Amino acid sequence: MKYSIAVIKGDGIGPEIVTEAMKALDAIGKKFGHEFVYTESLAGGCAIDAEGIPLPQETIDICKASDSVLLGAVGGPKWDNQPGHLRAEKAILGLRSELGLFANLRPALMFDALSDACPLKPEKVEGGLDVLIVRELTGGVYFGERGREKTADMGEKAWDIMPYTEKEIERIGRVGFEMAMKRNKKLTSVDKSNVLETSRLWRSVMHKLKEEYPEVEYSDLFVDNTAMQLVMNPQQFDVIVTENMFGDILSDEASVITGSIGMLPSASLGEGTRGLYEPIHGSAPDIAGKGIANPLATILAAGMMLRYSFGLMEEADAIDAAVKAVLEEGWRTADIAKKGEKTLSTQEMGAKVIEKLA
Ligand code: IPM
Ligand code: MG
Repeated sequence: MKYSIAVIKGDGIGPEIVTEAMKALDAIGKKFGHEFVYTESLAGGCAIDAEGIPLPQETIDICKASDSVLLGAVGGPKWDNQPGHLRAEKAILGLRSELGLFANLRPALMFDALSDACPLKPEKVEGGLDVLIVRELTGGVYFGERGREKTADMGEKAWDIMPYTEKEIERIGRVGFEMAMKRNKKLTSVDKSNVLETSRLWRSVMHKLKEEYPEVEYSDLFVDNTAMQLVMNPQQFDVIVTENMFGDILSDEASVITGSIGMLPSASLGEGTRGLYEPIHGSAPDIAGKGIANPLATILAAGMMLRYSFGLMEEADAIDAAVKAVLEEGWRTADIAKKGEKTLSTQEMGAKVIEKLA
């Protein structure tokens, strides 16, 4: 089969890590007889430099014409002082909404070989950790109305509105339940319904939905308590479903518990099979161009593309297994190495994975 992939390398370490993920896809193509055809385009800071805007129409068109999208990372200090609508991050937000990618899957999986990198006491994660965060991605405060105005006596005022409709909550809630059904049938819905009206609506929609999934062990948890429970007893969670900003925050927390933010992939999905796949980490401008970034999250994201967009399960399993094997052999990039341990460059780590895939 032939698959078309829109590739957005982006800024900072983006180009380095995406290059390795493309090599891993090519290795899969060779082994399993698929062809991946890439079309590169610009988004983020590099697009601001080249075209004056973070998300050129051409990039959107290329993504819409492709079977799926692979993205590195966008942003960096060079563009931090741009006005809000011209910031590099706008590229990601624009892609999510233009492509209708309302469901973000963020698996926080701890690899046994990296269990010492977990900042929690070993007994808290004994036997491993495998939590899936399902984050709503095109609604809430990220996309609500925002503004600023001068007040008479309180200086400037700014606001960001957090709207949610029942339809938006229901469609992400359903993804949460469906994921729970495929895993351990346990779902935690996270909100702040003791304070926020959007959360009260969220909770009532989730409660209606849970009647359709009697097999799922469902619970509600406030977001502040969830943040605490994640470090006290992360193993109690299987699937967590939550709104956009809570999911942003909790997924960083969950990722670091697994050892390194450099290890976690994510999939952003809509109604169809086209998705956007990226590492959850950012563009890491401090190490950009040094060839030391960890490419594994992006390689795992390419694996998620095979699984969720193309339905290539065996191929996706092969990527996961290759990454696991490389870690078990002791190969490390700097972010996951112990003090004094030998480290591999981005390219060397990519090559190790490809060796396993061959
Ligand atoms: C993420 C990132 C983005 C977000 C930024 C870069 C806009 O933090 O994907 O988690 O907040 O969604
Ligand atoms: Mg984030």
